Amino acid sequence: MRFTGTDQYVATDDLMLAVNAAITLKRPLLVKGEPGTGKTMLAEQVATALGMPLMQWHIKSTTKAQQGLYEYDAVSRLRDSQLADPESSARVTDIRNYIVKGVLWQAFSAEQPVALLIDEIDKADIEFPNDLLRELDRMEFHVYETRETVRARHRPLVFITSNNEKELPDAFLRRCFFHYIRFPDAETMRSIVAVHFPDLKKELLSAALKSFYDVRGLPGLKKKPSTSELLDWLKLLVAEDVPLDLLRSTDDKVSIPPLVGALLKNEQDVTLFEKLVFMQKHNR
Ligand SMILES: Nc1ncnc2c1ncn2[C@@H]1O[C@H](COP(=O)(O)OP(=O)(O)OP(=O)(O)O)[C@@H](O)[C@H]1O
Ligand SMILES: [Mg+2]
Repeated sequence: MRFTGTDQYVATDDLMLAVNAAITLKRPLLVKGEPGTGKTMLAEQVATALGMPLMQWHIKSTTKAQQGLYEYDAVSRLRDSQLADPESSARVTDIRNYIVKGVLWQAFSAEQPVALLIDEIDKADIEFPNDLLRELDRMEFHVYETRETVRARHRPLVFITSNNEKELPDAFLRRCFFHYIRFPDAETMRSIVAVHFPDLKKELLSAALKSFYDVRGLPGLKKKPSTSELLDWLKLLVAEDVPLDLLRSTDDKVSIPPLVGALLKNEQDVTLFEKLVFMQKHNR
């Protein structure tokens, strides 16, 4: 079982190496990187490439580890116990009827090996990763209500993504293989764009990429535009049929790109850019 990339996802050599290392080690792959650098998409694409179903668990600030294992639906049980019909009374006697399986349980009990994505783990509170240590390590957990132990039939291939909003505990890190998706260089970016816009004119792409990396290179930006923003921007440039001259500057000076709202997402950054352009004009 080896991942060698897909035709919809551009994976650099070190990324493929990391995925295969995690498969060999049988450890979760922890993927970090700027927003929009393809962390979530990686899990989807590896699952597709290896022919595994993908189970996804999107983490929010309120998510608890227990929700991934199972939840006991006490409310339904109480309601059933108050109903007089025989069907409800029969259900009430078996507590297993009120245990709702979480994503992890579903992945553990799947017939075939599956890929499991735990997306944006840094959104949850600090206890969340600690509470999953044993489950991810031993691939088993105990169901208190029914006194049974659930073990994985096949060890799932686990992807965990993080945007670095919170530090993860050391004990958790020890159990993962780590990969940081570095921001793509111009060459890699060309391949990524080619996947999404195979028919894009070369001149337009070159001019747009230059503009894009100029914007990213601006010191002091609060939020640098990333891959997904570049793709949005290119889509707009094509849809609006923006003339090439607007993108290309005749001299080596920076100018505000058309439809800049697709790239810069807050007013400080736009102001910073405008100041720079203004200063350049007056230095002439
Ligand atoms: N290597 C790549 N190959 C092809 N498309 C890519 C690649 N990287 C990013 N993209 C494009 O960028 C979009 C955003 O990717 P994705 O949602 O996986 O980012 P992310 O890292 O999970 O971001 P976030 O941290 O905000 O969740 C994808 O839908 C895809 O179109
Ligand atoms: Mg994501």
